[in-house]
Amino acid sequence: VYEVHLIRAVSLPFINYTYVIVDNSTQMAAVVDPAWDDRAITSYLDERHLSLQAIFLTHSHFDHVNLVDPLVARYHPRVYISRTERDFYGFECAAAVPFDDLAVLNLGETSVTCLLTPGHTAGSACFLLPGALFTGDTLFFEGCGVCTDAGASAYDMFDSLEKLKRRVTPGVAVYPGHSYGQPPGALFSEVMAHNIYCHLDRERFVAFRTRTMQRGLYEFR
Ligand SMILES: [Fe+2]
Repeated sequence: VYEVHLIRAVSLPFINYTYVIVDNSTQMAAVVDPAWDDRAITSYLDERHLSLQAIFLTHSHFDHVNLVDPLVARYHPRVYISRTERDFYGFECAAAVPFDDLAVLNLGETSVTCLLTPGHTAGSACFLLPGALFTGDTLFFEGCGVCTDAGASAYDMFDSLEKLKRRVTPGVAVYPGHSYGQPPGALFSEVMAHNIYCHLDRERFVAFRTRTMQRGLYEFR
């Protein structure tokens, strides 16, 4: 059994969600995508006397990783990042531990399955726990991440979303890297029902995801 603590970290124009996962029986903690708000993370860990064992990175974009180094210096956790992501972008961190698709990590008594979900970046990943899915910029409540950077692919993104549909059960809570109105933690079934990106066939998805008339990064329709 574990808890998820949400940290809404703002450094405009960025609004990111960082999550602290706490394995209740051991008080071991992991942080997902630490960014922007160092004090919010460290004060939570320190006040609860939690032992930071791991950092889980969904991808290597700056707004998801910019507190890795200070947290490593302070707590010496392992930093889990997909092997593809590390190698493609040359992500450098002495504490990095690369994982491959379907690797299972343990945080105390909580098991964490790594799902490679390329599309937003070459080696993006989601982390699946019993009852929770951390999606980074692969899946938001409102849409999915852009597929414009080097290594990104809208075709891969479609396949990754299909993979999530196959592997994630309806009652799993979804914790994305960003959210634009809807608080994190909606059920996977609710996200699927609401998210128009999950209702297109592959060719229409790619055409829609790569459309050039999107009004803003966060205007999903
Ligand atoms: Fe990103």
